[in-house]
Amino acid sequence: MEAAGAVVVVTGAGVSAESGVPTFRGAGGLWRSFRAEDLATPGAFGRDPRLVWEWYDWRRQGLATARPNAAHDALARLERAHAGSFLLVTQNVDGLHAAAGSRKLVEVHGSIWQVRCTACGRERYERAVPLATLPPTCPACGGLERPGVVWFGEALPAVALEAAFGAARACELMLVVGTSAVVYPIAYLPRVARENGARVIEVNPEETPLTPLADESIRGRAAEVLPSLLGF
Ligand code: OAD
Repeated sequence: MEAAGAVVVVTGAGVSAESGVPTFRGAGGLWRSFRAEDLATPGAFGRDPRLVWEWYDWRRQGLATARPNAAHDALARLERAHAGSFLLVTQNVDGLHAAAGSRKLVEVHGSIWQVRCTACGRERYERAVPLATLPPTCPACGGLERPGVVWFGEALPAVALEAAFGAARACELMLVVGTSAVVYPIAYLPRVARENGARVIEVNPEETPLTPLADESIRGRAAEVLPSLLGF
């Protein structure tokens, strides 16, 4: 791939598929077996925090042994090799981009390894699987803790959003990898990039609502396409 000026990469669950992490909407996707409104909304947590935590604890257990794949590695190498400005915007909460070495990274939907107190707001990084007690409570104030992820119906963190949209407006190339491009506001990022003159390349084995807008759509798995596309 020719080096462009500013580069933004947007990733979704598909980038982690080859690490054995289930996606949300495709075959075997989490939202095929579970109802998001029962497990990933503030209302669901208010009704039954233990049930919600059991689901997140199960997902954390599945993710604990997952390792970055060739797609995560190629993106971390791209960041190190690219002379211009660079930002990786991920919707994934699995931590695999950071594990691969990506640093110019915004996790716009939070992290499944982050736990936040609903009473005092204290955040902590917690890797223990399974968690010792469900639901977990805050070591500082004893309040009920929640997963540090963004649920349906919640706003994305303002700082992360501003970074993502600012970078999308300014980039020359946007690479959109492994996302169904149906969850907003992140699904707006390629539109914003395109409207500001960027070239948009999609990598996905399937067609998405982004496909007609993209300058190029590469049909394939991230772990196979990215190393050759990026030359790493
Ligand atoms: P989805 O499950 O909606 O989409 C995954 C995309 O990855 C699909 O378009 C697949 O075709 C594609 N895909 C599958 N295998 C792939 C592979 N090996 N390489 C490349 N692409 C592959 O996941 P997201 O778009 O990430 O939000 O979903 C967005 C958000 O919806 C998630 O962050 C999550 C979910 O509800 C929250 O939890 C807030």
